[in-house]
Amino acid sequence: MNKTTLIAAALITAASAVQAQEPEDYIKYRQAMMAAIGGHNSAASQIVRGKVSPEGALAMHARALAELTSDLPSLFPEGSDFGETKAKAEIWSDRAGFEKAASDAKSATAAFAEVVAGGDAAKIAAAFKDVGEACKGCHKTYREKDD
Ligand code: HEC
Repeated sequence: MNKTTLIAAALITAASAVQAQEPEDYIKYRQAMMAAIGGHNSAASQIVRGKVSPEGALAMHARALAELTSDLPSLFPEGSDFGETKAKAEIWSDRAGFEKAASDAKSATAAFAEVVAGGDAAKIAAAFKDVGEACKGCHKTYREKDD
């Protein structure tokens, strides 16, 4: 193959890799991401409430929450709104509202990570409460209730 053919082949491979992403796979992926977010949130809660105090762990959970919530809308591409999902149609019909809820959560987790690094217990508790409110704020409108 000459250089142009090689580049063309590489482009075709890249394009089919994108097309291979099925909505079902995206749904599984975002549910796994949300489960990870839920895990770090529950673990952080145990620490913030003083139930356990593993050395350095709160900063790790806070950083993970900030990373995992840094681009929530990308977990909800067009067309991933059917099947085994609790994602409501409003995520796509009210995209601006959904993006606002996502951005509130991103700000809340970033602020939480920042105050955790600072070490002030009262500020940490307040910032963690804001994170919880941000999760609820989105779930209330955009996620089906458990039956
Ligand atoms: C911008 C909206 C939004 C924000 C913010 C958000 N979530 Fe979610 N979450 C969803 C939606 C929508 C689903 C349902 C996804 C599905 O079933 O496809 C979900 C699902 C979940 C699940 C269930 C995952 C599973 O096993 O199926 C957990 C746990 C969860 N979220 C925890 C959290 C926590 C904790 C936070 C806050 C740190 C949070 N979420 C922030 C929208 C959001």
